[in-house]
Amino acid sequence: MAQGITFDITPEKQASQLQFLRRQLFGGPPGLSRHDVDLAGKTAIVTGANGGLGLECSRHLLNLGVSKLIIAVRNEAKGEAAREALTTALEPGQSIEVWQLDYASYESIQEFAQRAEDIKPQLDIVLLNAAFNRTDFSLNRKTGHEEVLQINYLSNVLLILLFLHIFKKTKSNSPQYSPGRITVVSSDMAGWAKFNERTGDPLLQAFDSEASYDKFNRYASTKLLTQLFVTEIAKRVSSSLAVVNCANPGLCWGGMMGGETSAIFNAFIRVICRSLSTGARALVDAAVRQGETSHGQYVEDGMLRPMAPFVYSEEAGQLTRRLWDETMEELSFAGAREIVGNLAECKNT
Ligand SMILES: NC(=O)c1ccc[n+]([C@@H]2O[C@H](COP(=O)([O-])OP(=O)(O)OC[C@H]3O[C@@H](n4cnc5c(N)ncnc54)[C@H](OP(=O)(O)O)[C@@H]3O)[C@@H](O)[C@H]2O)c1
Repeated sequence: MAQGITFDITPEKQASQLQFLRRQLFGGPPGLSRHDVDLAGKTAIVTGANGGLGLECSRHLLNLGVSKLIIAVRNEAKGEAAREALTTALEPGQSIEVWQLDYASYESIQEFAQRAEDIKPQLDIVLLNAAFNRTDFSLNRKTGHEEVLQINYLSNVLLILLFLHIFKKTKSNSPQYSPGRITVVSSDMAGWAKFNERTGDPLLQAFDSEASYDKFNRYASTKLLTQLFVTEIAKRVSSSLAVVNCANPGLCWGGMMGGETSAIFNAFIRVICRSLSTGARALVDAAVRQGETSHGQYVEDGMLRPMAPFVYSEEAGQLTRRLWDETMEELSFAGAREIVGNLAECKNT
């Protein structure tokens, strides 16, 4: 269970639709400029950066002076188009690289992380923004897992572990090390997940059954699983190595939202949606401005907020242990347990 912070709103109220509407209509992230945070000399990675919120996050990072921006994309042609679109924001001393990363493939993730080990002087900021949602059920051909679970949870977790491993290696070799940052993009929908899969044993396999599949709940459940993982990994990693948090952009028009629902529903959400740039500012705030108190927490509009109510429930304790064990087993091919063991040693030194 998530611990340690007292919020001025209960998780249930935070997850209520009234609060959601209030945030959409009257809330928003604070302004963010180079007076607040100057990223000169820093290297940042944004996944799913070819469009939507990822592209806007990239723009904000460049505006904050980031020296090297790596846009991680599954389709390099789309990545090149994004780089082209971002060049107008480039200042002398800044560069953009396009790196291939397909969350649907563990090999691609491992190759990407291997390449990131060579970043000099160090990798500083990782914004795990890529995600996936689909109406029809489909299994990943390589892993056999349902594709939304694969992309939004399992692959994100593998990336978190591999980046923490990189941070640890860098810290061991560099007296000037400054703590890394990993922000995983979350969603209001985590708080609305029915999470029917939770009765399944094994838990992860329950996600692979078509019988329990519906688009809304599957997406929501995978965002909830990620919140549970972030609370757990933060217990095992010192914030002096890396600050790992989740962030909510709010509902934003563009990207995943818009176009696929009924005209009346579209018209409604159009009214309550934020712009992609505003949502991306909330994400970048979490990644670069929030301090170490945000480690293992959920950041929304520049503030720490409760995660989904389930995270604080009685049931979460035992379920999170199962999730942790099954996740470590799933990612054992990449040495997940050893990576976490080394990180824990690092916490005590
Ligand atoms: N828009 C909203 O209102 C909203 C609200 C809450 C949270 N979010 C979250 O914000 C993030 C960005 O969403 P968005 O609205 O900007 O949607 P989007 O435009 O669809 O962005 C998703 C990104 O993920 C990439 N992606 C999907 N599958 C991938 C894979 N297998 N490997 C690598 N990249 C992959 C997509 O690449 P392709 O272009 O190649 O498909 C795209 O760049 C997501 O985490 C989403 O859950 C969005």
